[in-house]
Amino acid sequence: MRIIKTKDYDDMSRKAAAIIAAQVVFKPDCVLGLATGSTPIGTYENLVKAYQNGDLDFSRVKSVNLDEYRGLPKENDQSYYYFMQDHLFRHVNIDPGNTYLPDGTDADSDKACREYEAIISGLGGQDLQLLGLGHNGHIGFNEPNDVFDKVTHCVDLTERTIEANKRFFASAEEVPRQAYTMGIGTIMQAKKILVVVSGKDKAQIVKDAFFGPVTPRVPASILQMHPDVTVVADADALSLV
Ligand code: GLP
Repeated sequence: MRIIKTKDYDDMSRKAAAIIAAQVVFKPDCVLGLATGSTPIGTYENLVKAYQNGDLDFSRVKSVNLDEYRGLPKENDQSYYYFMQDHLFRHVNIDPGNTYLPDGTDADSDKACREYEAIISGLGGQDLQLLGLGHNGHIGFNEPNDVFDKVTHCVDLTERTIEANKRFFASAEEVPRQAYTMGIGTIMQAKKILVVVSGKDKAQIVKDAFFGPVTPRVPASILQMHPDVTVVADADALSLV
């Protein structure tokens, strides 16, 4: 595991974008695993800038997102589909037919998850998977558990995650209670993994996840076992290590 310490959020965002840009330059038809949440927003902004400067071409890139809320239609501005359009897809020349997220509108969760897992394997897996880090160590929506869930599945969100995500909704009641997420196995099959983390409020979980024991109670701790993980974290997030 490689840890890159950055001055602040902006520095983290520029460095993370540079790593993703390098992946696209090296392999123009790569499969990017993408993430939502507030942390990667600056990374996407920098990728859009690089595209606008003529330095990046997404025309052959394929993307698979980590997760999607169950039950939110695509046009809901809190769906992860909407987030991706808003922060990246509509600003670059990626082919919309090459961008994939779990289908949150499919009420048949087994079918939706099975189909999504098949899409990812059909693409040959992620060349680079971007990840944020939840305060309880969740990655995608893999919440603390007794076991590491392997494949794409439906999860009940924890109270802590609902609480953390309610800032984006009118009230906590409106936060969906379930989501479809890549499993830990789906994430771990990526050839490279890039984690972005920022802020003092993430310092304790950075310490637990990357310097503590590997346990499904802290899902991100499994990343210690992956052969090619880069964590780009700002000084605040690394303040306890
Ligand atoms: C959500 C997402 C995760 C994300 C996490 C942290 O729950 N499903 O993929 O990493 O939030 O979000 P933030 O970056 O806003 O702290």
